[in-house]
Amino acid sequence: MITTKTPEDIASLREAGQLLARVLEALAKAARPGVTTRQLDQLAEQLIREAGAKPAFLGYRPSHAGTPFPCTLCASVNNEVVHAPASDRVLKEGDIVGLDLGLATKPRDRWLYVDAARTVGIGGITRTSRRLLTATEEALNLGIAEVEPGKRVSDISRAIQRRVEAAGYSIVRQLVGHGVGYAVHEEPQVPNYFTPSHKDVVLKPGLVIAIEPMVNVGDWRVKTLPDGWTMVTEDGTLSAHFEHTVAVTETGHEVLTRM
Ligand code: MF3
Ligand code: CO
Ligand code: CO
Repeated sequence: MITTKTPEDIASLREAGQLLARVLEALAKAARPGVTTRQLDQLAEQLIREAGAKPAFLGYRPSHAGTPFPCTLCASVNNEVVHAPASDRVLKEGDIVGLDLGLATKPRDRWLYVDAARTVGIGGITRTSRRLLTATEEALNLGIAEVEPGKRVSDISRAIQRRVEAAGYSIVRQLVGHGVGYAVHEEPQVPNYFTPSHKDVVLKPGLVIAIEPMVNVGDWRVKTLPDGWTMVTEDGTLSAHFEHTVAVTETGHEVLTRM
């Protein structure tokens, strides 16, 4: 079911989104050589709880997953695409790490969810890595720029795909963006590439979606590691991920998770 959010709920999602933006910024600053992804996970959980919110991914079990997600933060390093649980892995100079975080607040009768991600370099990174991060973030921004009433999800998909493929990279296809707000994952699906077989949806005020291109340097195919969560590129190449929660307004859009 596709839900539209009330103006009151959008106002609360805006506050939750601003908290999420601040936490992600703190994580990006803390992500330095020698730090483990578990330390980032603990910092994320602490900042979220201090603010009176709760982690949205901890214990979350989507229909495809056999076990509940064990962490607050997804911290996906280098060839890891998304959904890597935090671990004792030590970040080192030259790594890129995708920080994907969701939180929920309960200002009234129900929980409200926001979801955002960014990929950061640890210390100095290669030109290839820098170029990948730039292309992925720009693709997200071009997708967001399409969001206004009357446009379709496929307009977002095409804009993202155009930028990514112009850079010579590929879009992950097995994973897509999604409606968000009353749950972590809601309808509609928001693919990052155009496919005529996908059920297209017209954007309407009050719709809230997470747009989240996942971009590989090499082939688009990904696989799940035996831990049941971590997605990696099949060919071992680098991957980046940027995500924002975006509300459709009467005249355009508002990026709820941007500071
Ligand atoms: N943040 C992911 C997304 O962007 C979902 C993570 S679910 C988890 O859709 F369980 F892996 F945390
Ligand atoms: Co996310
Ligand atoms: Co998401």
